[in-house]
Amino acid sequence: MNILTVIENKKNKQELSLEEIKYVVNGFVAGQIPDYQMSAFLMAVLLNGMSIEETINLTDVMIKSGDTLDLSFLNSKIVDKHSTGGVGDKTTLIVAPIVASLGVKVFKMSGRGLGHTGGTIDKLEAIKGFKTTIDKKDLLKQIENIGICIAAQTASLAPADKKIYALRDVTGTTNSIPLIASSIMSKKIAGGADYIVLDVKVGNGALMKNEQDARLLADYILKIGKHYNKKVVCLLTNMNEPLGNSVGNGLEVLESIDLLKNKGPKDLKEIVLALASQMVHYGLDISLDEAYIKCQESLENQKALQKFEELVKWQGGDISKIAVSDKVVSLKSPKTGFITDIDTLKIGLLAKELGAGRMKENEKIDYGVGLVLNKKVGDYVTEGEELVKIYMNEKDLPLQEVVSCFTIDTDKIDKRNLIIDILSN
Ligand code: URA
Repeated sequence: MNILTVIENKKNKQELSLEEIKYVVNGFVAGQIPDYQMSAFLMAVLLNGMSIEETINLTDVMIKSGDTLDLSFLNSKIVDKHSTGGVGDKTTLIVAPIVASLGVKVFKMSGRGLGHTGGTIDKLEAIKGFKTTIDKKDLLKQIENIGICIAAQTASLAPADKKIYALRDVTGTTNSIPLIASSIMSKKIAGGADYIVLDVKVGNGALMKNEQDARLLADYILKIGKHYNKKVVCLLTNMNEPLGNSVGNGLEVLESIDLLKNKGPKDLKEIVLALASQMVHYGLDISLDEAYIKCQESLENQKALQKFEELVKWQGGDISKIAVSDKVVSLKSPKTGFITDIDTLKIGLLAKELGAGRMKENEKIDYGVGLVLNKKVGDYVTEGEELVKIYMNEKDLPLQEVVSCFTIDTDKIDKRNLIIDILSN
């Protein structure tokens, strides 16, 4: 077998055998297949897809590229969540502490930014000193002691995903159903989760632009879950505008802390409570309604906030030192009317251009930059009123580009439903 034949086979829309998938993935992890050939392979998968059987095989090879975590010694159900990625999507920073504050153990293996979407690990690293690389022994100790750990992929858990994910980020190969499904599920299964809640984002700011593709992605994820005997719930949620108001790493941490103080934006709270209650429902074996009330209480009585503070301290962070640039430009609305659309993909790309995300692998990012939207879809704005604040540092943005992300019209439109559907296996 050789890599050129496998690339050609996928280019010609052939179904790959398990042997071929093993050859590519293991060869890439071992450093025998260079980035340029792997990039060509990933692009062929993006363009021509993979069947569910190929995707299960890909997931399996990625899981077996490293260790799997056995958390059975905790004598507790292990619940996990993941998002397929969006703009301003900071839910993990709030959901994980809510769930852990209610006594359900959470081990969350998270990623960095992918394409125009942000990543939990980059956000947490905006907190000074916060360590995201934790070895297996320490993370087990942490989960046992405080019931929560959010870490980057270790070298030992699904290393194939870690390496492929970083390459996808900079080669335009992010929005592929088999690549997303295998990436997420290999991490979740290697991380030892019994029950997985997935936030499948749909819309112009998501990797899946329309509901049909999002449903297909959910179907792949649910089938992979079933293959591994894991209970999976997928929430299809709207990503036609950023979630919450803040986009950018440090800014998103601040907004998350606001919500943990039971303040933050309503849309963010709605998704957070929907995800957290699914996890608590399973983790504590109580009804979904009871779980929802408990999650709400955890925000109200600030138990979730305390859990977040405990997490930050345990992982070496200083919560009083969150990177936020002090060079701020306020952009005003050019006219009066209702916001009828926000080009969310463009907002994500502009944040990346400011330095919040990477253009090249291993590039340093700027944790302090980003945008804070003062107006969301359905809001009324008057000419000269603030539309958005831009937090910049070394890189500038063409301001007109930011204004052009907002469509302002005379007719009011209704707010869109945030939760489109809930599917499970
Ligand atoms: N999150 C992941 O872990 N992988 C993807 O491909 C997309 C979102």
